[in-house]
Amino acid sequence: MIFHDDFWQKRAKAYDKLHWQNRQEYLQFFIDACQLSGKEKVLDLGTGTGTVVFAIDSLAKQVTGVDLSPDMLRQAVKKNSRKNISFMRADVRNLPFADDSFDRITARMVFHHLLWGINRAMGEIRRVLKPGGLFCLSEGVPPDRILETFYRDVFALKEKRKTFFPEDLEKIIKSGGLILKESRNFYLKRCSIKNWLNNSGNLKKEIKEKIFSMHLNLSKEGKKAYNMEIKGNDCFIDMKFTVVTGSKI
Ligand SMILES: C[S@@+](CC[C@H](N)C(=O)[O-])C[C@H]1O[C@@H](n2cnc3c(N)ncnc32)[C@H](O)[C@@H]1O
Repeated sequence: MIFHDDFWQKRAKAYDKLHWQNRQEYLQFFIDACQLSGKEKVLDLGTGTGTVVFAIDSLAKQVTGVDLSPDMLRQAVKKNSRKNISFMRADVRNLPFADDSFDRITARMVFHHLLWGINRAMGEIRRVLKPGGLFCLSEGVPPDRILETFYRDVFALKEKRKTFFPEDLEKIIKSGGLILKESRNFYLKRCSIKNWLNNSGNLKKEIKEKIFSMHLNLSKEGKKAYNMEIKGNDCFIDMKFTVVTGSKI
């Protein structure tokens, strides 16, 4: 818990400057998978600064964002002026809601932070989702198996996290007792490594330089898998994301 609080305290202020999390193309791809009609009660897990919440509130009846970090939530609350949005502090592994409460549950880029208790989180999601409701989960994934070690090594320098491939996310949906509805990949084109490193908390200069040079020195095949372009003093890659959805019977 100490690691978590300190980690997000450092990341909260710069989080909204991260390009990947604001880019409309990925947000729209995720929102489309949620199949909203304007009538739904939605729960956004690991809401952070509320990016998903503010993007879907006009498509839903009511949206609640929960997060474990008070610092991330503070940024979300500051931006909120809408009556159908609320935020509260909660752990995805212990949700303070009654059974069958929500038509949709969303979780974008949260599950890789669950170093323990993914089954427990899925139990809670299944419990608070209404029958017929949909859970929409999205995570960044390595673009190719040949990049698995590189991807793990890069992220290990930055944070403690899990690495998923699309099939791992499908398994999470199914072993969580939901029916897998959809599994789709999305490539967010031309993402700046410098923007990512400069807005991911107070990473030490040496760590940023190390991660940056790991990208520059990646094998030819690895660069191709990332569709990498080195331009000026930056390096750009296509980031791959998977979106899986599962419904409750
Ligand atoms: C990478 S951010 C994603 C924020 C947002 N979903 C988005 O797409 O921009 C991950 C968020 O998950 C939150 N988080 C991590 N573990 C959590 C847990 N066990 N329960 C609730 N939130 C958690 C973090 O505090 C952080 O705000």
